[in-house]
Amino acid sequence: MGGRPGPSGAQRHPFRTEVNLQMALAGKKPAARRARAVTKTVPASRPRRGIDPFERKHIERLVGEFGSPLLIIDCDRVRRQYHQLQRALPGVDLHYALKPLPHPAVVSTIVGEGGFLDLATTGEVELVARMGVDPERCIHTHPIKRDIDIRASLDRGVRVFVADNPDEVRKFAAYAGRAELLLRVSFRSPGAVCDLSRKFGCDPEDLLALARLAREVGVEVRGLSFHVGSQAADPGKHVEAIESCGKLIAAARREGLGTFDTLDIGGGFPIDYAERAPAIQHFCAPIRAALAQLPKRIRVIAEPGRFIVGPCAIGVSAVMGRARREGHWWYYLDDGLYGSYSGQLFDHARYPVEALVDSTERLPSVLAGPTCDSIDVIAENLLLPPLDAGDLIVGRSMGAYTWASASEFNFFPRATVVSVNLSPGDHGTVMAIDR
Ligand SMILES: Cc1ncc(COP(=O)(O)O)c(C=O)c1O
Repeated sequence: MGGRPGPSGAQRHPFRTEVNLQMALAGKKPAARRARAVTKTVPASRPRRGIDPFERKHIERLVGEFGSPLLIIDCDRVRRQYHQLQRALPGVDLHYALKPLPHPAVVSTIVGEGGFLDLATTGEVELVARMGVDPERCIHTHPIKRDIDIRASLDRGVRVFVADNPDEVRKFAAYAGRAELLLRVSFRSPGAVCDLSRKFGCDPEDLLALARLAREVGVEVRGLSFHVGSQAADPGKHVEAIESCGKLIAAARREGLGTFDTLDIGGGFPIDYAERAPAIQHFCAPIRAALAQLPKRIRVIAEPGRFIVGPCAIGVSAVMGRARREGHWWYYLDDGLYGSYSGQLFDHARYPVEALVDSTERLPSVLAGPTCDSIDVIAENLLLPPLDAGDLIVGRSMGAYTWASASEFNFFPRATVVSVNLSPGDHGTVMAIDR
């Protein structure tokens, strides 16, 4: 347990290189690179041979370079996740939902692979606009918006919105001819880890009345959307929702209530945490079968967030200090529940954690966050090797709903985000993320 050199709060980011976003995306030839990134539409599953930033030697190198705590994003893994889901849902246009990890390197990677984007706030609209992403590749899916948000989106060229109630539909009367709607339908999903249909979506039986209202106020309805809940337990709710939406679309078309040529099947595609999730091909098999039964001429899109980024980032934190309490070693890390581990509270996730030290000894241990709050405990009853100040702890599967929901409570800064493998030779970049 000899104190090995490592980052401390005071030494944070000793060699931090803040890279201008446009420069990072642009490489040596900004304009050419940017144009290529946003115009390519054919998915390319070409294998790339970047480094593996989740290997210990690279983790230690990146901490040496950028300090701790870090969130390390591997853009090669983002590409792999995107193509894996694309293969599981052939013909479905994937709109990466920015909310779990609104980072320019992820956006750039997805757009570079031919993907689309799901935006939910004006901040996200502004982020992709600054990156020069074609607004036609984006939809705005927050069911409740202020007029100022609608205008900000339209000004940036994002024209397709989601609405789920009469008040929201009426907000678009002022933008008839400029904005188009997807009407969100609710399918309660108690089996999902986060049941999003409690807060949003109209009852299926109210859908046609909502579509009639849209026609009355002159707003074009392109189709329907749903989100059965995040980290779905099984594909049953997706199937039920697709079948129900297929019938509603047919009925709306019969009545001439709008174009109704789009079905947005949301997100919810599960990933491995401490517990394993079904393989995505297998999970999507019944969904593919249900989609095959939809009425003709429907463009199907999805809004995956977690599946795209969850497995593609790790959280790296350092031990700030330790204490022995009631027979356990308590290790106080420089990241915790108010930081990247906030997903344990908000997203009900449990991230597999490990210590980057060489020892076969295992002692009962507790991992705690840095703040003065007693709730800030990451995991108890762990068996860990003996740790010392500066030793590193790695949390796996930490890309989704982690750093995104972190705060700076007690003035402990959020983890620095380092992206790797955005382009060949990218061994670690910190981008400035202005909002
Ligand atoms: C409207 C909407 N779309 C997409 C997503 C992403 O869902 P997931 O991360 O489960 O794929 C969410 C998550 O909250 C959402 O609210």
